[in-house]
Amino acid sequence: MEVPHLKTRYYTLILAKNVHIECNGLPLTKAAHFIIRRFLCGMGALLSVIDAVIRKIGIMSPRDDEEVDSKTGLKVKEKRAITQSWKHVSQNLKQESMNFFNLLFTEHPAYIEYFPAFRGKKLEEFNTKPKFIAHAKNVFYALTLVVDSLDEPDELVEILLKTGRDHHNRGVPMAAFHNLAIVFDKFLTIRLGNNYTPLAKESWTKALTVVNAVIEKGIEDEKAANLEKEKTKQEKEQSTDTRL
Ligand code: HEM
Repeated sequence: MEVPHLKTRYYTLILAKNVHIECNGLPLTKAAHFIIRRFLCGMGALLSVIDAVIRKIGIMSPRDDEEVDSKTGLKVKEKRAITQSWKHVSQNLKQESMNFFNLLFTEHPAYIEYFPAFRGKKLEEFNTKPKFIAHAKNVFYALTLVVDSLDEPDELVEILLKTGRDHHNRGVPMAAFHNLAIVFDKFLTIRLGNNYTPLAKESWTKALTVVNAVIEKGIEDEKAANLEKEKTKQEKEQSTDTRL
């Protein structure tokens, strides 16, 4: 609903279109003009407040629904779809994150081997252990941060770069993060049913593509840093050899 600025429209009517305003056949007096102006001004303010409240509680979409955020590439309506769908999960973050990792490890049992504490074990042997729960929760905290940072993603970028760097050093390849996004889509489909709207699905896919691009940058940065360290180490060793 586009709320017209009533006072402005009133002035436009009188001034721009030069309409002669009458009340019960009598021309409007200065005082009547004043009262109408004040009334319309008050009504306009009231309607603006009602409009803002209605938009806030999500009954109506904001005017700038199609506006694209330059940092995330997401539209306003996509950000809202992500936030609304995440509400269903974030209420029970611990259990939901455990369910998600059960699904991930069921679909990709090879990933269990990346975790020193779970290596060689079956999922049911460790899926209630604190280490399993802690990692599952860490991933879902990161997703909560994704949701909370949709308007201000700078801090999130730092965390995702670090996630990429740390995981590269633990032998976790980029493919695992791509598969995490695919399994996450499956998880939300199962978990949310009809609440996982086509817009929410598309928006999460878009958001996780951006998330994974940043994680990939972290991995690539770490690869380059490790190569540089290795080069320096070899150069040091060579210079020691020549001195001996
Ligand atoms: C956005 C996704 C992810 C986030 C935010 C995340 C976060 C974390 C954090 C915070 C830690 C602990 C870091 C520390 O102790 O220094 C960790 C450890 C680890 N993560 Fe992830 N993780 C993610 C995805 C993955 C994936 C997809 C895998 C593999 C399938 C994985 C495998 C590991 C392993 C093997 C460790 C080390 C565990 C250990 O040494 O006990 N992570 N992760």
